Formats: sequence, C-alpha cells, structure tokens
Amino acid sequence: MIRSVVQGCGAYLPERVVTNAELAQRMETSDEWIQQRTGIRQRHIAADGEFTSHLATKAADAALKRAGMAAADLDLIVLATATPDETFPATATRVQAELGMTRGAAFDVQAVCAGFVYGVSVADSLLKNGIAGTALVIGAETFSRILDWEDRGTCVLFGDGAGAMILKAEDGQGTSADRGILANVIHSDGRQHDILYVDGGPSSTQSTGLLRMEGKEVFKHAVVNMAQVVGEVLGKAGLAAGDIDWLVPHQANKRIIDGTGRKLGLPAERVVVTVDRHANTSAASIPLALDVAVGDGRIKRGDVVVVEGIGGGLAWGASAIRW
Ligand code: ACO
Repeated sequence: MIRSVVQGCGAYLPERVVTNAELAQRMETSDEWIQQRTGIRQRHIAADGEFTSHLATKAADAALKRAGMAAADLDLIVLATATPDETFPATATRVQAELGMTRGAAFDVQAVCAGFVYGVSVADSLLKNGIAGTALVIGAETFSRILDWEDRGTCVLFGDGAGAMILKAEDGQGTSADRGILANVIHSDGRQHDILYVDGGPSSTQSTGLLRMEGKEVFKHAVVNMAQVVGEVLGKAGLAAGDIDWLVPHQANKRIIDGTGRKLGLPAERVVVTVDRHANTSAASIPLALDVAVGDGRIKRGDVVVVEGIGGGLAWGASAIRW
C-alpha cells in the first residue's frame, strides 16, 4: 500500500510583529480584551510589497532544507490560500517559478482556514494514485490585506504567515510501513456562507472585498465540528483519542482550541498552541504550528499527529498522520 510520508516541514513569518498594545493605540481595544477572548498576544504582518507567494516560497525553502531535498525533487505544489497574489494564475505557479521547479504541476486550493487540511487531502490522493511522487503542501496567507481595520471585532484576530510540508509516496512494504497519512476527512456546508465571508471578488464586485464575520456563530460551529471531525478521522484510521500524541488544531482562538481538547478528553499538554504568537493565519496556521512543535522536539518520528481546521464556507476537515 502506498502511503504519503512526511519528509519535513518549514515555516516563515514576516518580520514585523504587531502587539495588542500597538493595536490599542490605533483603535478602541485592549490587550486584556483580546487575550481574554482569544488568547492572542501578537501577530506578524507582511511588509509592503511582501506577498503571499513570497511568504510561501520562504516556507517551502525551509521545508526543502529540513527534508534534505531540492526543488527538482518535487512533482507537485498544492498551495492553500484565500489571499492569492492575483485572481489568476494560481499563486502556487509563482512559488514553482521562485523555487526553480521547471516540471510537475502547481495549483491553489481555496478552503480558507481549512485550506491546509484540504491541501493535504488532495496531495495525499494524488500521491496514492501515482499522479505525483513527491508533493509540497503549503498554507500561506496575507490576511492583513483583506481586513477591515475599522472593525475591531475582526481585525485584531488575524495575522500573516506561511507553513509548508513535504510528502513523499512510499511503499508501505518498506522501512516506513507505519508512517504517513493514515486518514483524511473533509466537509463543507455552503448554507453557512453568511457567517464568515469576504464581501467582494472578481465576479461579484470586481474588487477584493473585506472579511466579514459573525464571531459568536462561527465559534459555536467551530467547537462542535472540530471535536466531531477529529472523532471521524480517528475512526477512519482505526485509532482512539487516547492514541493521539499531538493535536495540532487550526489556530483561531484559544477558547475554541481548549473546548475541542476538552471534548476529546485530551490533556492540554498534548495540544499544540501558537495562536498567542501568530494569531489566526488561516490556511497557514496548522503548518506554522507543526513547524514549531517539530522544531522544539515535541513531534517526533512515529508520533500520531492529528490536524484539524474550520473556516469560511463553512469548510472543515482533519487528517491523522503517523509522523
Ligand atoms: N476590543 C474591545 N472590545 C471589542 C472588540 C475589541 N477588539 N471587538 C468587539 N468588542 C466588543 C463588542 O463591541 C461588544 O461590545 P458591546 O457588548 O458593548 O456591544 C463586546 O466586545 C462583545 O462583542 P462580541 O462580538 O459579542 O464578543 P464575543 O464574546 O463573541 O467575542 C470573538 C468575539 C472573539 C470574535 C468570538 O466571537 C470568537 O472568538 N469567535 C470565533 C471567531 C473566530 O475565531 N473566527 C476566526 C475565523 S474562523 C476560524 O478560523 C475558525
């Protein structure tokens, strides 16, 4: 049986850090309000002229280095983003050119905060079907460009960044028999469009638009769907919650993360949290958190890692991976 086995991951955050205190100088908010409601202390914001493709390329470079691979080894780039450089072509093709990858295929996946899980699911399928041998999955966003900086209820929640993971198709009969992606689950419910969306786009308004959200509604769906989808992916992989070494949730809000962990009965030490430093970076948040937990030695080869995310659409999903 072919398995998509993780070869390495990497990340990049823009240099500029904006603290809650700095935001409080610009608008009616406070460090206390933001921390209490979300757990966020700071976020990274891309510089003028720094685009999603730039962040993505730097994260991809870091992942290639970790994996001991070159761009020429890649057959596929799947870039999850809701903030592409341009309406078309796919930002993934810019990254392909930047990396110096002259063959294979590159395309974007749009599932907002669930984008990384969707990207992993798509890449895993293409690897298992023999369409590609090695895939780079990236989550990269510049949400600062689609925020309404006059709306304190949303603009304090998000940040910019990118994370990447390299997957390679390996024969399960080989040395890494147990490793790789064990199961994926993806869902969406288009009836929930109005609780989280961007009020513009090329076809509707010929402009980019800004993010609009009914926070309380999103919160309710997030806690219920996240615990449910983790249970579903564990069932598909033949595992139980007690088998999870690391839960790496989409980093939207500490209260959503804590609620999901509690519903699953997981000790807090098993849940990777980076929302305090990165805020919500949408599709980038899971690979950014993976990079932190691999970098500091928490996630080790052979560990069972479950990633899960939910975002606009609503779209949500989870993957179970033996690292
Ligand atoms: N600073 C200070 N006060 C604020 C701020 C702010 N930044 N934003 C809103 N307020 C005020 C409101 O005006 C309101 O004041 P009022 O009572 O005088 O009317 C009060 O705080 C409460 O506002 P609510 O919107 O009801 O606050 P709530 O407790 O729902 O918290 C929050 C808002 C943090 C957005 C919460 O609903 C939430 O976390 N939702 C989840 C949304 C999320 O994480 N989305 C991310 C995208 S989707 C995803 O990634 C899962």
